[in-house]
Amino acid sequence: MKNLSRDTTSPILTEEDKTFDLTLRPKTWQDYIGQEKIKKNIQIIIEAAKKRGESCCEHLLFYGNSGLGKTTLSYLVAKELGANIRQIAGPAIEKVGDLAAILTNLNEGDVLFIDELHRLNRLIEEFTYPALEDFKLNLVLGKGPMARTMEMKLPRFTLIGATTRLALLSAPLRNRFGATFQLDFYKQEDIEKIIQRSSHLLKLEIEPGAIELLAKCSRFTPRVANRLLKRARDFAQVEGQGIITANFARKALEFLEIDGLGLEIGDRKILEAIIKKFEGGPAGLQAISVSAGEEEDAVLDIYEPYLMQLGFIERTPRGRVATRSAYQHLGISFKNNQRLLS
Ligand code: ADE
Repeated sequence: MKNLSRDTTSPILTEEDKTFDLTLRPKTWQDYIGQEKIKKNIQIIIEAAKKRGESCCEHLLFYGNSGLGKTTLSYLVAKELGANIRQIAGPAIEKVGDLAAILTNLNEGDVLFIDELHRLNRLIEEFTYPALEDFKLNLVLGKGPMARTMEMKLPRFTLIGATTRLALLSAPLRNRFGATFQLDFYKQEDIEKIIQRSSHLLKLEIEPGAIELLAKCSRFTPRVANRLLKRARDFAQVEGQGIITANFARKALEFLEIDGLGLEIGDRKILEAIIKKFEGGPAGLQAISVSAGEEEDAVLDIYEPYLMQLGFIERTPRGRVATRSAYQHLGISFKNNQRLLS
């Protein structure tokens, strides 16, 4: 997951837009647009826990592409539970001692949010099982024949795990979550509402044509939509009177080299690699990454999900294949792989 400095539409959170995200992050269920089914299910889970008089709810697992709102939802859950939230990334927990420190510092009812859960060390993962099931931690003190285990009682807490790669979680870990939710790409109309809401919060004037255009190119991902809005705002403020017109939105997209379907250079390089170097595929992930000059993680987490959503790539047991629509979008003849002269 490198190349963040040149990333333009990558849904991965960069340092630059962290504050931006914080300003725009919905703080109530009413403010949260889209993912209706998930919202409803979570609300029921929380309501039920409250009715039972419990201080926390079942452990929840969110999976889906970056930028779709896993963190936002987690903060909303904590708010709804009236709980404090502690956030940590899976790879930041390096030792069992780190996990013990985090868990023993929780207060009754707290929400622990572990992002990138698939990158949690497997050895440490096993120590979470008793913590998740019985709210206790079994620590091993000493080494060899003198080693003893000590059981520590933990406060009751709710774990919220987030991952972009559900398949990388072990079955025992997955099974310890009471509910698992997949966050999907948003609908065009929801992204339009999100852009409208963000514009309102940022006190920006934006024309309907600009909203529609930015939404179309946002990879159906709120974080990308907000980032595009920011770029269009820059153009409107520097070159115009501050009003974001469709023309300024278009200028921003051109500047970022984003096409009408929201594809950026990286997407196009990947499609071209499959089509031109591997005759349309099937091609393996490693071969595609090398040819396109992109990290494998970036291909898996950023580019491929959207290319698959558009129906431009299909995954087969033998590798990735570019579809007819991908050829059409790039203006390459599907039959003989020759670029059409138009
Ligand atoms: N900003 C980012 N995600 C959002 C969402 N789902 N609803 C409203 N605003 C958002």
